[in-house]
Amino acid sequence: MKTISVMTSGGDAPGMNPCVRAVVRTALANGLNVKGIRRGFEGLVAGEFTPMGPRDVGGIIQKGGTILMTGRFPEFSDIKYQRLALRKLNEASIDGMVVIGGEGSMNGALAMHKLGFPVVGIPASIDNDIYGTQMAIGVDTAMNTIIEAIDKLRDTATSHQRAFLIETMGRECGYLALMAGIIGGAEMTLIPEQETTPEEVQAAISDAYIRGKTHAIIVVAEGATLHGQALLDRLNAMNTGFQFRLTILGHIQRGGRPTAFDRLLAARFGMNAVERMLASDTGVMVGLAGREIGSAPLEDVCSKKRHANLDYYRMARMLAK
Ligand code: F6P
Repeated sequence: MKTISVMTSGGDAPGMNPCVRAVVRTALANGLNVKGIRRGFEGLVAGEFTPMGPRDVGGIIQKGGTILMTGRFPEFSDIKYQRLALRKLNEASIDGMVVIGGEGSMNGALAMHKLGFPVVGIPASIDNDIYGTQMAIGVDTAMNTIIEAIDKLRDTATSHQRAFLIETMGRECGYLALMAGIIGGAEMTLIPEQETTPEEVQAAISDAYIRGKTHAIIVVAEGATLHGQALLDRLNAMNTGFQFRLTILGHIQRGGRPTAFDRLLAARFGMNAVERMLASDTGVMVGLAGREIGSAPLEDVCSKKRHANLDYYRMARMLAK
């Protein structure tokens, strides 16, 4: 193996940059050449390769987003694009590829592995919905952004004696909302993994009002059955004692300086991925298992789902009293 490539793909996640840096510098330290692939899988099929030296990844450790740029390219599930990608990689004399991204990106990585190309995946997605790792790059930073927003919204909620619905990202996974609900002290948390009726929310919020609370915080995952404006309208039509306001945090959760945790995770994942590549341990995604960096076959990563742990839901409800 002489030359490896690295791409970031799917939704960006804070920590992708320090991870690219770790991949590039580990590869260079081991005598490999590195080519960056711009714009994820779409850039790959277009042959957008750029040589990367140690200075190309200087000054990016603290930056959100990704210097390689990223994108969603669902068309890559078509074998026609996968074969084209293989041809582009061969033409550029690239012997292996590190894919930094979420679930969709790991599917792309698996497709290349099935075509016989050496690939190692690195999980990066704020959703924390990727099977095979306890934490993905970006989750911790997103969580800190959410908490800062909740703390600020509580200030205004208390001043006006209002209730706030705060909607987090996460697709079908309630991890972000659930953890934010616990560490943000929410009165109620709504996640896709646990069906909750508006009447249950009403009961919890009325109860908070009767017990003398001056505000109420409800964290709702974007994937919860009832969320957004529809939930706001239902609750405002009910009698809870509070008037409701809605804040959808949206893409703010994907930006910002990666936290210390995310930078360290990015460095560990990046180094581990290149070392696995050198040891021909490919077709896998690296992941956090306890305190160690382990790996899971891409086949498993792509066929299994990771959901929020409902033990934490019980904790959230109990601590909200
Ligand atoms: O997967 C990350 C994520 O931010 C999800 O939480 C969200 O549902 C989705 O991406 C939004 O995607 P886009 O940036 O393409 O609108």
